[in-house]
Amino acid sequence: MTERLTATPPGITLAPLTLIPDGKARNFVLEMRAGRFHGFVVRQGDTVRGYVDRCPHMGVPMTQVLDDYLTPSGDLIACSWHGALFRIDDGVCVGGPCTGQALTPWPVTLADGTITTA
Ligand code: FES
Repeated sequence: MTERLTATPPGITLAPLTLIPDGKARNFVLEMRAGRFHGFVVRQGDTVRGYVDRCPHMGVPMTQVLDDYLTPSGDLIACSWHGALFRIDDGVCVGGPCTGQALTPWPVTLADGTITTA
């Protein structure tokens, strides 16, 4: 079974910023020698934030529909299983079964219009 990683080395090119529509999120899967990493990036204008795709409630991937990580209004991250809600800024759960816990940050950065791991 492939090891599931919760961090990546810095400097991996992920995508051009324009791949993620403003106010939306996108799933990324990175295959590395050590195993497979699942994460997602939320874009708000020129700001990008990344999190490991693992809900602190039950340790499962958050979405049942590809790239569907946000509430309809786009202002919170939502887990599709039991409705946990997380702030985009810091990943803290502000509602649902894991209130007070937080998503694991996945450091990403934007330079020259390209998103890379940090
Ligand atoms: S697994 Fe995410 S809210 Fe239960």
